[in-house]
Amino acid sequence: MTARNFPPSPQNSVFYRNLNHTYPVAVRSEGVYIYDADGKRYLDASGGAVVVSIGHGVKEIAEAAISQMDQITYCHSSQFTNPYQEELARLMADLSPGGSYYLISLTGGSEAVEAAIKVARQYHIERGNVTKHHIIGRQQSYHGSTLGALSVTGYHSRREKFLPMLLPFDLIEPCNCYQCPFGKTYPECGLECASALEASIQRLGPENVAAFIAETLVGTAAAAPVPPLEYFQTIREICDRHDILFIADEVMCGMGRTGKPFAIEHWGVKPDLIAAGKGMASGYAPLSGLLVSDHMYMVFKEGSGMLSNGQTFMGNPHSSAVGVAVLRYIQKHDLISRCAEMGKVLFSELERIQNHPLVGDVRGLGLFAGIEIVQDSLTRKPFPRTFRVYRRSLPARPHPLPRHGRGQLRRRRPSPDRTAVRHYGRGIKRGGIDPERNPGHCPCGAGEQPRAPAGGFGFLNPLPSR
Ligand SMILES: Cc1ncc(COP(=O)(O)O)c(C=O)c1O
Repeated sequence: MTARNFPPSPQNSVFYRNLNHTYPVAVRSEGVYIYDADGKRYLDASGGAVVVSIGHGVKEIAEAAISQMDQITYCHSSQFTNPYQEELARLMADLSPGGSYYLISLTGGSEAVEAAIKVARQYHIERGNVTKHHIIGRQQSYHGSTLGALSVTGYHSRREKFLPMLLPFDLIEPCNCYQCPFGKTYPECGLECASALEASIQRLGPENVAAFIAETLVGTAAAAPVPPLEYFQTIREICDRHDILFIADEVMCGMGRTGKPFAIEHWGVKPDLIAAGKGMASGYAPLSGLLVSDHMYMVFKEGSGMLSNGQTFMGNPHSSAVGVAVLRYIQKHDLISRCAEMGKVLFSELERIQNHPLVGDVRGLGLFAGIEIVQDSLTRKPFPRTFRVYRRSLPARPHPLPRHGRGQLRRRRPSPDRTAVRHYGRGIKRGGIDPERNPGHCPCGAGEQPRAPAGGFGFLNPLPSR
């Protein structure tokens, strides 16, 4: 089917995410742009759902995919391994903290979280601790849409319809210094948010708790608040004391976006399990992974020797080959260091909006940045959910950029909640990293071709209250 065959407003058999919305038909993508069937181009500023970390249309990734498909179609992971899965695991282990992890490769972030939950449970069974089954999560978090992942997620609106079906896991207070759930200030707070884990473990009984899961930098639910250095160190210490595993969910913030391969390295902490996804294959194929630390691996090896979690597309050659090509590309262009470097430029540009009355907080690491828009920056009062401020201020769908380079956001009638975004757009453009004007100097700076920033991410707070 060619681009022109697509109906301009599709009325077909797709069950769309929003049944009342007419979606533009995306037919091509290159660099930082997506093109629709009418030839309009869209700036894919955050690479979809923070996925496309190396930019669209990199030819060598397509070549690697074709070459793999020429070799082998599919083989089941209970019967075979394949060279692409092996190489992907080696590359991921090389990137992992301390280099001592084993990879279970899967196809989506929710799956990686599900696998983490089940592997944690099986680990304790292998060691004879059969009562350990609770997973503790946090409020203001997002770990995926499947029922297990949603059970450890603290994102009210995504849970509420499914509440009767969710597992009764404990969700402790988040670590968010800007909107501290205890109304305290760091460091006088004594990290009450970390102590909340201890309290939860005592409530449930340490003998019943298998793992604690946290996004190292929260994405969807809170827009990148950065925990103090001691936070994850204290979490690690509490987990160790009670023989509880620490799962770092790096599906969104991992794979180099923060300027280190995995964000948890900023805290010098080694998780037992790391869930990865999104940037692992940069959207060129569905791919995710669960990194299992060597000490856990040995328990399985010396125990049953079997992983009790099988899925049809585990270790599949196609996604693995694409992942290998993307990771090699990241290495070849040193994109992770580049991310750290360009993160400094991004945050120095974002300083320009820091004093805007509606901008509460600007935060993040590397090119993983969040802006919290509030009603009043003195009181830090968020907008009510019903106001849907993020929809009003950032487009919920791509907005075409006119070719002469004046952003559509700037031409919109200003309203209070849009102003901050308008300034944000200008700041970036004045900073000389506007890919519209400098197609060869995109934030990731990987070469001549314009490429998307590795995780450029300007989210507004979608979860003002629990
Ligand atoms: C931190 C985190 N974990 C898990 C997921 C779920 O990933 P997926 O949508 O690929 O299933 C997401 C998705 O946004 C995420 O941000």
